[in-house]
Amino acid sequence: MSDDGEKIDIHRGLKGVYFDRSEVCFIDGRAGELLYRGYSIHDLAERSTFEETCYLLLYGELPSRDALATFDAELKAARELPAPVYDIIRAVRNAHPMDVLRTATSALAAFDRDVDDNSSEATLRKSVRLTSQVPMIIAAHEQIRHGKPLVAPDPALGHAANFLYMLTGRTPGDDAAKLMDTDMILHAEHGSNASAFTARVVAGTDANLHAAITAAIAALSGPAHGGAAENVMRMAQEIGDPANAAEYVKRKRANKEPVMGFGHRVYRAEDPRARHMRAGVEKLSHAMGEPKWYQILAALVDAMKPYARHGVNVNVDFYAGVVYFLNGIPEDLFVPIFAAGRVPGWTVQVQEQFANNILIRPLTLYNGPAPRAYVPIEERTATTTETSP
Ligand SMILES: CC(C)(COP(=O)(O)OP(=O)(O)OC[C@H]1O[C@@H](n2cnc3c(N)ncnc32)[C@H](O)[C@@H]1OP(=O)(O)O)[C@@H](O)C(=O)NCCC(=O)NCCS
Repeated sequence: MSDDGEKIDIHRGLKGVYFDRSEVCFIDGRAGELLYRGYSIHDLAERSTFEETCYLLLYGELPSRDALATFDAELKAARELPAPVYDIIRAVRNAHPMDVLRTATSALAAFDRDVDDNSSEATLRKSVRLTSQVPMIIAAHEQIRHGKPLVAPDPALGHAANFLYMLTGRTPGDDAAKLMDTDMILHAEHGSNASAFTARVVAGTDANLHAAITAAIAALSGPAHGGAAENVMRMAQEIGDPANAAEYVKRKRANKEPVMGFGHRVYRAEDPRARHMRAGVEKLSHAMGEPKWYQILAALVDAMKPYARHGVNVNVDFYAGVVYFLNGIPEDLFVPIFAAGRVPGWTVQVQEQFANNILIRPLTLYNGPAPRAYVPIEERTATTTETSP
């Protein structure tokens, strides 16, 4: 109850709260269904490309062949970073790649000619630039921190293949490039998740796109959100053998700790994105002669079956991390890869926010001390200060 007797419902974590309408992403958590602009994630994962899906998210429709070619050229033309951004990456190269990405993305604001123009045309131009620049930052940092020369983008390669190329210095095979492309499609957008909501809160104050995306990257870095993929791989390594999976789950649940890669705020059925990555893990782990990883994950799913009845199922990150690992990508790059895929989703959410903007400002119900008199410092006793830090 509030002071004036009004009944107040508190929705901790804003669980189940609708705060606006969106034309971008439909999620049915019970049915395990996900649509981008009305198109099933399964059709997009199996039949589209990241570039096409990105166009769909930003413009609202699938592109014609010509429109896609123009868009692709724009994305390729945007594959460049200002020289001072490389210096900033060098200065912070020993930090976690998500911290480096956040810092360098923030720095991009200083060099973007449209930085303070929040019109939809300028935001769209910046969205395209950021979509190309975010993977470049991740790749540049990977080279810099290992003392290697930077890898120039290859205009012959599509977005996902070029990302892998810049990250590893090797042109990826068709299968690896396709799997990364699918991964980026699956991660491209997901409604008002924690990072997209953060971006909208920042945009709600009329701050610029770079500010919103920098904040979104910060929100994505936590283990309850993007960090899960990194932790899933660590968990698989800790388990080491499929025979140990059941014991691991028992121990985690006894300690009331979450099993990474399971559970989701919205999905009560299996996360529809998971199946595409599961197929990738199965194929890759057998092709690379390391079936153990697929078997450990399968044993974990078995051990978690009793929780599935309560709506705790695998999420997309459960399989994504192992795909990256089998592609030789270091664990601390798993979340940045998620970020690179999510840029179109963040930017389109900011577009929507700007298009019908309102300050996002919920309330907390005060339950601290009752009003009290200020005590001058010389009169404070142990009892008046004992709750202070
Ligand atoms: C994603 C996550 C934060 C969602 O949390 P949430 O919406 O607050 O979920 P809830 O806390 O309401 O979970 C409901 C129940 O399922 C259980 N549960 C949720 N995730 C679980 C997990 N990963 N392992 C075991 N049990 C889990 C909770 O303990 C809770 O049980 P209780 O009702 O007996 O307390 C949570 O599932 C989690 O931490 N998962 C692991 C991290 C992860 O994979 N994140 C990536 C998300 S894409």
